[in-house]
Amino acid sequence: PTISRNDYQPYPYALPRVELTFDLDPACTRVYSRLHLERQSESPEPLVLNGEELALESVSLDGRRLAVSDYRLEDGRLTLFPEAARFVIELVSTCRPQENSTLMGLYVSGDHLFTQCEAEGFRRITWFPDRPDVMARYTVRLRADRARYPLLLSNGNLASNDELPDGRHEAVWEDPHPKPCYLFALVAGSFDCREQSLDKDGGGQALLQVYSDRGSNSKTAWALACLEHAVRWDERRFGLKLDLDRFMIVAARDFNMGAMENKGLNIFNSAYVLADKDTATDAAYRAIEAVIGHEYFHNWTGNRVTCRDWFQLSLKEGLTVFRDQEFSADMLAQGLTGTEARSARAVKRIDDVSTLRIAQFPEDAGPMAHPIRPESYQEIGNFYTATVYEKGAEVIRMQHTLLGEAGFQAGMAEYFRRHDGQAVTCDDFVSAMESVYTRLHPGKTLAVFRRWYSQAGTPRVTVEVSWDPAQQACNITLTQRNAPAGIEKLQDPPTAKPPLHIPFAIGLLTREGKPITLHHEGRQSDTALLELTEASHTWTFTGIPESPVVSLLRNFSAPVIVEYERPDTDLALLARHDADPFARWEAGQALASRQLLAMMKTGEAPSALFIDTWQALLLDADITDAYRARVLALPSDRELLEKTTPMDPLAAVRACRHLQSALGNRLTPYWMDVYRKTAADAQADYSPDPASAGRRALKNLALSYLMAAGHPDAAELARMQYDVASNMTDRMGALSCMLRYGASGVAIQVLDHFYQQWQHDPLVMDKWFALQATAPDATVETVRSLMLHPAFSLRNPNRARSVVFQFCMNNLQGIHGPGGYDYWAEQVLALDSLNPEIAARLARAFDSWSRYADAPREGMRAALEHVRGHAGLSRNVSEIVNKALKI
Ligand code: ARG
Ligand code: ZN
Repeated sequence: PTISRNDYQPYPYALPRVELTFDLDPACTRVYSRLHLERQSESPEPLVLNGEELALESVSLDGRRLAVSDYRLEDGRLTLFPEAARFVIELVSTCRPQENSTLMGLYVSGDHLFTQCEAEGFRRITWFPDRPDVMARYTVRLRADRARYPLLLSNGNLASNDELPDGRHEAVWEDPHPKPCYLFALVAGSFDCREQSLDKDGGGQALLQVYSDRGSNSKTAWALACLEHAVRWDERRFGLKLDLDRFMIVAARDFNMGAMENKGLNIFNSAYVLADKDTATDAAYRAIEAVIGHEYFHNWTGNRVTCRDWFQLSLKEGLTVFRDQEFSADMLAQGLTGTEARSARAVKRIDDVSTLRIAQFPEDAGPMAHPIRPESYQEIGNFYTATVYEKGAEVIRMQHTLLGEAGFQAGMAEYFRRHDGQAVTCDDFVSAMESVYTRLHPGKTLAVFRRWYSQAGTPRVTVEVSWDPAQQACNITLTQRNAPAGIEKLQDPPTAKPPLHIPFAIGLLTREGKPITLHHEGRQSDTALLELTEASHTWTFTGIPESPVVSLLRNFSAPVIVEYERPDTDLALLARHDADPFARWEAGQALASRQLLAMMKTGEAPSALFIDTWQALLLDADITDAYRARVLALPSDRELLEKTTPMDPLAAVRACRHLQSALGNRLTPYWMDVYRKTAADAQADYSPDPASAGRRALKNLALSYLMAAGHPDAAELARMQYDVASNMTDRMGALSCMLRYGASGVAIQVLDHFYQQWQHDPLVMDKWFALQATAPDATVETVRSLMLHPAFSLRNPNRARSVVFQFCMNNLQGIHGPGGYDYWAEQVLALDSLNPEIAARLARAFDSWSRYADAPREGMRAALEHVRGHAGLSRNVSEIVNKALKI
């Protein structure tokens, strides 16, 4: 059954109050629910409640117990026929947390009980109007065995905590903020807690708490610090204050996604909470900061103002990703100014754009292509996608670019003025922004811009540049092409796609690499923001004394693909001199991609120009280490693969390796020099600050080039780095180099040492598994034997991801090698019987199957057909494989 955006109907009842009582027990939990309902229409309407995997014990209406004939109970729906305008429904039902392997609803993880309700998990807890536009005030009474579950948490404020007979106890929580049920949470168990109190902006104190498994308290200091930074940042940059007296984060070992923004009680995948220098890498520290920020920022963008329906998911996710990206960038640039600050922020931008290109662009070109506000879905759990999140964030960022920081903040203030406490749509958000935009630019609207919400596919923008010596003028023409995306291609006639509003930032450089000042829209700057709102438009810049080199799509001002033919020498010049640090990185990557594509086609060796460019970047004294590590890295094999038709994974892997070893060889003394300089402070006290992390990133990059080149000292350096490492970043850096480029005997020995040292730590063991699943020589046999390891379990999503997903999605040689496709199909089916949401993610590994050459294409198709033919497939997996096979 397909659900369509246009079918939205308001719920006929308001639900001002909900009282829930839980008798918590892992085998069978009984839930007593009392719903205070008020009809919104004149005449009686059936009351429809959602429920899944529940046993219904009783239903009462205004205190009168209903007979079975008084209501209708069918798959997933309970329908009552109340006549009064206001009434109270009481329901008693049970669920089975222990048997719940889906990790949606109420489930067991370790010795604890957790909930995950977004998107539609609350219906697995009790019968309820499980939709985001029904917002209620909750009172929650939790009862459980005191010894087993000493801590009982839910949203809001703790009203009481009392002893009960038989060793049980009870906690009552009251949440003063009305919320949709997807933001409900409860947690029960025994935890360590790290807390601090915080002076709230505007007065009063708030208690910040981080709960984690007993014995892990030493690993939550960073998470708590990040939470404080997030609170302060949202006050400073957005003027948004914490509206609670208590804000809790709880770490769960078993969790489907990254984390969840339940009101006042965020539940996190432990991977985004726990960190210390011995077990977490620099990247993990940054990811924790981002996710803690993300969930905290949802408190306003998501919770105070929520979504009317799930088609509006990007309303909260795109906006909140934009906010967490800005938070991370501000944290990276803290204390820096000028060029340094800009290149520090660019590092975040580079990482985000790389993610977009590797995850979202292919999605937008494949069978699951959808607008950031989807038009239809079969299973909403399949739409927590890179498009809704990452492209959604780009669409918010473009509004920020069009309005400027002050204008955007004014638009946010207007959004909250209009909609605080409501469940609204993406259109409502744009309208708030538009009210400011129109004030700033009389006569202009966001009417064309809104198409970003309804059009799928990555626009292609073609650039033409000409310079007129007589006029000393430079003409720049931008032309956009919006081809049908995904299943649109199958429509007859194909849907016509009108032009989008594309903010396109450009700069001009002299042939010496100096910036040229541009006069544009009454402003003078090195960067001009061109607003393309038609299919094609030409801009003329005057006072340009020579034929310039153009810097395009600065800071990646729109999520588009730029098509512009130009000589390698121009790219090399931009890679060395572009004042926009993002565009500068981009130019280097474009140059590298050309090398890689040439090597795939003709086996051509890297050009002198390319080697010289990398050498210049190695020696540039003006850039930070973190930024240098980004500009010197090569595009990944997955990025390269996206650029080839038909897709040839093995050739992509070979080319990347070849170019890396060539660069390692040709620039050996420089890499060695960088390595020696950056390794000198390896023994210093560990700190995850951006400067130190940048140094480590550069060091590990240098090591990988030396290893790739087979330098005679490299293996020894790696081994030494592993042995003396004072932190996980250096240890992992060395180990992954050994696995990727070293002698397999040494790698096996070191892996074993690593295992002996870290086997007690699940998050480190995830890394141990992942390293092996992505090793270049890993085969289906390798992963099968990893799955036989006693520490492996398909039920734990982190562990499944570290082996199965890593192999299927990040090991191109492995998955496209013998038996790879059968292995994938088998794992999708095995996971589907446990956890459909996770299975559906794995099912997407072959989204691009139709773009491969004959043999792999037919192999993937057969595997997809095999999965589709399986009886009892979940709605999640069925939607994915059916769409994949349509293309
Ligand atoms: N709202 C969460 C976040 O992005 C994601 C939760 C989605 N959960 C799920 N089971 N699909 O912060
Ligand atoms: Zn989110």
